[in-house]
Amino acid sequence: MRTLIHLSDLHFGRVDPRIVTPLLDFIRATSPDLVAISGDLTQRARTPEFQSARRFLDAIPFPQIVVPGNHDVPLYNLFSRFLRKLNRYQCFISADLEPFYRDSEIAVSGVNTARALAWKNGRINRRQLEKLRARFSNVPAAKVKIVVTHHPFDLPEGVSGDHVVGRAQLAIQTLAECRVDLLLAGRFHVGYWPYGHPVIRKLFSADRLVRHEHIDTRARTAEFAERN
Ligand SMILES: [Fe+2]
Repeated sequence: MRTLIHLSDLHFGRVDPRIVTPLLDFIRATSPDLVAISGDLTQRARTPEFQSARRFLDAIPFPQIVVPGNHDVPLYNLFSRFLRKLNRYQCFISADLEPFYRDSEIAVSGVNTARALAWKNGRINRRQLEKLRARFSNVPAAKVKIVVTHHPFDLPEGVSGDHVVGRAQLAIQTLAECRVDLLLAGRFHVGYWPYGHPVIRKLFSADRLVRHEHIDTRARTAEFAERN
């Protein structure tokens, strides 16, 4: 059995510093096999924010799989946004925008959905889907297959309209064909499970997951604020 911790939307630059140490303590006490971080490590993709995020990652003594989010692409500086969109992310966090982790029980693929043009909603392209296919085609069926993206391919309850990632339907179809067991995503700052999309609901039936717990760090922040 493997234990994963999934973190998302840390937003260094806007993070409540009081939650950082308890969060690190929780991670160390849990001693996970892997920590997945699904994007938005920073608030505005500024260098000091990336430096804080880097320090946080360095304090986690476990394997990590990290992908960028839309907030890790500069918003206001148009030159940086279009021509150097993930330069700082690649400098401070990881040169690899689509990392792959595998051990004897799980295979985990990161997918970069952050885009300069589709800034908010993100996008996945056909080349990325083929890459997923190639990666998972060599993974035995007994292993649990997991995909980590910033933008989810399905929406939480109450969110509708054009907020879904570009080519979501095609992505869902590919995930189904690859027999992916679990999709970890961020973006909406809420925890939700299971997904509402019928294909995803059927696919991620949780029969291979022992337990799923969710901690809302914003709720935790409110708790600390009340106490102090
Ligand atoms: Fe976010």
